[in-house]
Amino acid sequence: MEKLVITGGKRLSGTIRISGAKNAALPLMCTALLTDKPVTLHNLPRLADITTLSDLLNHIGTTVTIVGRRKSNVVGRSLTFDTPEIHDTDAPYDIVRKMRASILVLGPLVAREGEAVVSLPGGCAIGNRPIDLHLKALEALGAKIEIQEGYVKATAPGGLKGGNVRFPFVSVGATENILMAATLAHGTTTIENAAREPEIADLAACLNSMGAKITGAGTETLTVEGVEKLHGTEYTVMPDRVEAGSYAVAALMTRGDVFLENANPDHMQAVLDTLQEAGGIVEIEENGIRVKANGHVKGFNIVTQPFPGFPTDMQAQFMALAAIADGASVITEAIFENRFMHVPELTRLGADITVTGSSATVRGVKSLRAAPVMATDLRASMSLALAGLVAEGETSVNRLYHLDRGYEHLEEKFRQVGAAVERVAT
Ligand code: UD1
Repeated sequence: MEKLVITGGKRLSGTIRISGAKNAALPLMCTALLTDKPVTLHNLPRLADITTLSDLLNHIGTTVTIVGRRKSNVVGRSLTFDTPEIHDTDAPYDIVRKMRASILVLGPLVAREGEAVVSLPGGCAIGNRPIDLHLKALEALGAKIEIQEGYVKATAPGGLKGGNVRFPFVSVGATENILMAATLAHGTTTIENAAREPEIADLAACLNSMGAKITGAGTETLTVEGVEKLHGTEYTVMPDRVEAGSYAVAALMTRGDVFLENANPDHMQAVLDTLQEAGGIVEIEENGIRVKANGHVKGFNIVTQPFPGFPTDMQAQFMALAAIADGASVITEAIFENRFMHVPELTRLGADITVTGSSATVRGVKSLRAAPVMATDLRASMSLALAGLVAEGETSVNRLYHLDRGYEHLEEKFRQVGAAVERVAT
């Protein structure tokens, strides 16, 4: 096992190149199951989740090949996913348990093969995360769903049929699953109350480049006219808005000045607004976003919401920022019911946080003190690393594998802008 050791007190300054988005890359990789022709994706981040999904696709019948060689190890890479035939419509527990997004193979497999057996997913322990919306949506397209011994079996022997799906609340993954499935269904599908996250628009654009007929991406109603076949494509993954937001918080917390190269401000308005409310200066430049501090950090309030609201994936990082703000902040988590597991760990670093139900009141303190802390999930781990950047002394963040699921070249990127961060074997 490895841990991250951070010596607090360094001001961050310089440029960080933002990687391709993990949460866009995962569904984009699954599009390869919808066609017997190769799908090449550029700007893929080197992350454990990408490897896990590659392993799963490979088990199903996809050959994954690295395209070309690049010198710099901070530039994302290109992979080709080629699935001339589906060898196995089963997604086994051993792979799926590592990552909840594995459920995204379900829709494409039923659409192409008329059958899929996928283990119920694992992933971050941020609450009870059912997949009922994914399953109901597939049923609306004519799939028969059975749950047996921890596996979901979906069958549609004559193929899926277009239908109307109306989600009772917004789900990113369920929207992605049904969007992919509907591309090969007979007839037209409408998806209402669809997620509007930029990753959905990225997926729809990629599918359309493969010959799908999707309209309405980025709005709450998607219309998909099913087609007989999809063809291969080459597509570039969008920049990671959560990675960009995380380093933006690091810039502000350390009273630094960091240019987030490649970050797209259109994907991050709610986060940029909150950074400014907290006293940060945000400058939109041609090829990215500059974030710098302007005196003290001020308290702010956030409520997590589906896009374009404030993203739940940035909640923990902003709690670290609130911990050192002048005044109090109220942070309400409205998407997941158990996403405050970073609170006791931030408290160990000296933060003053009171949780009542789904809201946390954070009273800013003058300084944090280093301590060994335990990462519990991906974004929570980042909040601890951020707190470590400003804590007095040496903070060690254990269970580094959580961070490796979502932050490409984490310690290199931190070091590039002057942080004192080491990866150490335990
Ligand atoms: C995706 C993101 C994750 C992010 C989340 C919310 C990926 C790989 N992951 O996760 O980083 O935190 O969106 O922005 O893109 N729900 C149900 N039934 C379902 C599906 C979801 O009750 O069938 C609930 C969830 O428990 C949660 C809420 O709906 O409370 C939103 O979850 P969802 O948008 O589906 O999240 P994911 O797609 O899993």
